[in-house]
Parts: sequence; structure tokens; C-alpha cells
Amino acid sequence: MIRKLTVLALSAIFIMSMFTVPALASNGQSEMVNVAHRGASGHAPENTMAAFEKAFEMKADYIEIDVQMTRDGRLVAIHDTTVNRTTNGNGFVGDYTLDEIQQLDAGSWFGEEFAGEQIPTFEEIIDEYRGKIGILIELKSPELYPGMEEKVTEALTQRNMHKPNNGKIIIQSFNHESVQQSKELLPNIPHGVLAGVTWADVTDEQLAQFATYADFFNPNMNIVTDDLVNRVHFAGMEIYAYTVRTQEQADNLFERGVDGIITDFPEYVYRHPVKN
Ligand code: G3P
Ligand code: CA
Repeated sequence: MIRKLTVLALSAIFIMSMFTVPALASNGQSEMVNVAHRGASGHAPENTMAAFEKAFEMKADYIEIDVQMTRDGRLVAIHDTTVNRTTNGNGFVGDYTLDEIQQLDAGSWFGEEFAGEQIPTFEEIIDEYRGKIGILIELKSPELYPGMEEKVTEALTQRNMHKPNNGKIIIQSFNHESVQQSKELLPNIPHGVLAGVTWADVTDEQLAQFATYADFFNPNMNIVTDDLVNRVHFAGMEIYAYTVRTQEQADNLFERGVDGIITDFPEYVYRHPVKN
């Protein structure tokens, strides 16, 4: 009798599981954290309001932005340390004043329909998107811009965005000293260390050291393994991997169990059901 009941119960569970729809996050999408790299930069010119708006429309969880500083000390979003690749200008970001850099066209290189897009300021971005979408702030080449950590701190603090549990601001950098400095200035904001391929053999001791000030270890996707994901979690950090540009890459990272995917194409991340 007991055996019959057990068989019946197991059969019922099996049948029910066939009809169970995977749980979805409140945005109706998968729970994998979806970070739009430089905005939805597969669809619009990177680090422009057009790319951030596209990411918002696509319901990404975060926009990732690269922050640098102009000659007159203003924070702007641009990836390269020169304006050459993504604008119609030439020269180093740090040699331009804000007024000069905002006269450049940061959209036409991507497509004529984006002609006239400007390089946005950091303040403009956080004013537009705070509370609407998460913001993953990368301090880009901070060694070139002394005082950049303080400027970011000031902008966030003025807007009360430095408080605990705001939940949707993260600061990261490849420059780990800068991450440490920023964490001291903004202890309530989660911070991440970015790790290029040279960190493929990161040790448990190094991860434990990062965890003294960082909440995230965010590696190049090419060094992500099951073992790395487990060790990052064991160290008490989360792991967001970059930069996904194909569905296959997203699928692989999903299988590895990362917490977030940083991608030019947010649509690749949302094709995954929630992992149980
Ligand atoms: O957020 C991670 C990723 O942006 C790091 O690489 O060169 O695109 O800034 P990069
Ligand atoms: Ca970046």
C-alpha cells in the first residue's frame, strides 16, 4: 500500500513538473542579472543616451557606463581614453573641456540615424536613470584622473544615492586600488573588481583579499569555469561576467552559474529560464 502511494505521489510530482512554468522576476524575465554593456551597445552607439534608453526599453536590469574626466574636471561617459573611435574628433578625453567634448558627434560612427548624439555627463545619466534601472559604474583608467573617485562620491552623495540598500548602484574598476579607495568613500555601495584574462589563475587567497573590500569579482567571460564561480561564491562575492556578444556565450555563462551577464545584447540573457 505504502509503495503504491509513493509511486502515485512521485507520478503526480512528475506530471505537475511538466506543466510548471519557470518562475520569473518582477520584470517578467529571467532572474539572471542582465547588464547592458555601455548601454544596449549592440543596438545604439555605446555610452550615449540612445544606448541607455534602448537598454531601459529592453528591460535590462542595469546599464554599464564607463566614466572618465575632462580637462576641466567634469565626469563623462566614454570607453576609450581617446575620442577617436567613437566620435568625429581626435585626441585624449582628458585634453578636452566639457564644452568642447560635447560638441563632438558620438553617434554617426554607429549609424546616421544617431547623428548628433553627445557624450553625456555622469550627472546627466544618474539624474535620468536613478530609480528606473540599475547603474553599474566603471571607473575607467582612474590613474589618469586624480580625484575621480571623490567626484563620483560627491555626485552620488548630493543626490542621496550613497545610502545603504539603494540596491541598484555598483562601482567597479580594473584598477583595484581605485576600487579600494572608492569603497572607503562610499562604504554602503557595493563595489566590484574587474578581472581580465591575466586573472585566469586567481588564487583563493587573492579572492579572499578582494572580498575584504569588494562585493563582486567580475571577470572576462573567457576565464569563467564552474570552479571559478564556486570559489568566488565561497569567498562571499558575486560574479558578473563580460562581454557577451552571442547567444552561445550567454548560454555557456548561464550553465556555469554566474550571477550576472554583461552584454551588448540584452535579448540574449532573457532567453534563459530561472535556475533551480
Ligand atoms: O563591465 C565590464 C566591461 O565593461 C569591462 O570591459 O573594456 O568593455 O570596459 P570594457
Ligand atoms: Ca566598461
